[in-house]
Amino acid sequence: MAQAEDPAGTRRDFLYFATAGAGAVATGAAVWPLVNQMNPSADVQALASIFIDVSAVEVGTQLTVKYLGKPVFIRRRSEEEIEAARAVELGELIDTSSQNPNRAGTDASDANRAMDEAGEWLVMSGVCTHLGCVPIGDGAGDFGGWFCPCHGSHYDTSGRIRRGPAPQNLHIPVAEFVDETTIKLG
Ligand code: FES
Repeated sequence: MAQAEDPAGTRRDFLYFATAGAGAVATGAAVWPLVNQMNPSADVQALASIFIDVSAVEVGTQLTVKYLGKPVFIRRRSEEEIEAARAVELGELIDTSSQNPNRAGTDASDANRAMDEAGEWLVMSGVCTHLGCVPIGDGAGDFGGWFCPCHGSHYDTSGRIRRGPAPQNLHIPVAEFVDETTIKLG
């Protein structure tokens, strides 16, 4: 795919993590993209992990948390949002990668981006893949998901780029449910 060959995109990713690395979390933030690929030891992984209680998040709303210095959106999607995301054909997408390290190498089908099988939970970086602004959520933009007003990038209800200059879908961090109401990031 084009985005994998985009040197600007690669440079942005690097800057993203390098910037996040300032201060006390420097080590964890800087190694984060690397340790994902290297199957890190438990102590390294713990350094970069946070736990989020999502029990109060209502259907159709989202929580924004700060992780490694950047926003992460945790959205509990409505049936309508899930249906809209799952009705999209891969051929309609600009970026056909799931951008999900939890399911590395998979396509951008909504099922490969949502946390759970039913698709209720979507967890992703709140950083536009164009130049790093924070997109507006709650149904914003032409595709009912997120909209980045900086240069007009529209993301759908799965956080996939659908129109505008952003080259990639919103990235998904390493994440998992550790119990019914707690998400672990990192
Ligand atoms: S930073 Fe989001 S569209 Fe440019």
